Amino acid sequence: MHYSDFGLSNTKTLLNRALRGSYAVPAFNFYNMETLNAILTAAEITQSPVILAVSESALKYMSDDILMGLVRGAKYKKNQIALHLDHGHSFEICKHAIDLGFSSVMFDGSSLPLHENIKISQKTADYAHKFNVSIETELGMLAGFEDKNTNSTESAFTNPDIVYDFVKQTKTDSLAISIGTSHGAYKRKNKNESLRFDILKQIAENIPNTPLVLHGASTIPQKYVKNINKFGGDIKNAYGISPAQIRKAISMHIAKVNFDSDLRLAFTSAVREYLSKNKTDFNPRDYLSHAQNEMTKHCITTIQNIMGSGFKI
Ligand code: G3H
Ligand code: 13P
Ligand code: ZN
Repeated sequence: MHYSDFGLSNTKTLLNRALRGSYAVPAFNFYNMETLNAILTAAEITQSPVILAVSESALKYMSDDILMGLVRGAKYKKNQIALHLDHGHSFEICKHAIDLGFSSVMFDGSSLPLHENIKISQKTADYAHKFNVSIETELGMLAGFEDKNTNSTESAFTNPDIVYDFVKQTKTDSLAISIGTSHGAYKRKNKNESLRFDILKQIAENIPNTPLVLHGASTIPQKYVKNINKFGGDIKNAYGISPAQIRKAISMHIAKVNFDSDLRLAFTSAVREYLSKNKTDFNPRDYLSHAQNEMTKHCITTIQNIMGSGFKI
């Protein structure tokens, strides 16, 4: 089936609208019914567009049938919700997601030699565009944990001098860039580290019509880290990107911002607190719904305080 049959939107439409409106669309990762419901509830309450992101490993975790059962069963506000493959590392996995009914795919060739990245990005774009599916590609490389396939300790900033040719040759609809963010909960050694806005400025000048994407943007709310540790966890030295820096990046052409770690922290914090305060309760529906509610609250805060994407229609 095609994504439009489920009521989902083309990601490119959402991102181009965001670029014109000087806000950004959040891409929130999900991996089960509760996390999907949390994101959709936040989108509904804030009337914000959102991108439902599924990583390769989340797709394996859910299985095609269960994922598409959930996707088919949900209701979507018109022109607001997209389903996106996050960090597809091969043409084959991107094709598979398109064939399942995703409305966009990311081909992540950031760890490949440039000519390989261009070749597979082009091939994926050609296939995607046949079905009016949009494609995100990546230039430069983020440090940290990227899906099961990439775990780099070094980051390589995006070279602004090659973005124009890359976009032209690949026909990509959006471009993920590396300007100092990283995946996971351990992004910052100190709070004063800044993103490379000088690089972002040059990229935006060179490709003003291409929506730019910021991965690894979680803010790592310290209230969740503290709560997890208070109720039995052990997470040390975890710091994220400040909301102010993300807002500044959005004002400079970032049109899609990816969050996964923050949502995991919100969920885990709620589960740990609930179980430790309700020692006789062993009904998973109780603590999972509690965690879903906390994740919804966090997505609403992100949309309202960082993205500026609420009430845009
Ligand atoms: O950027 C990648 C996501 O955080 C995916 O993580 O492979 O554990 O789902 P995952
Ligand atoms: P975080 O680990 O910062 O949430 O990044 C998520 C991401 O980039 C998913 O693609
Ligand atoms: Zn990412």
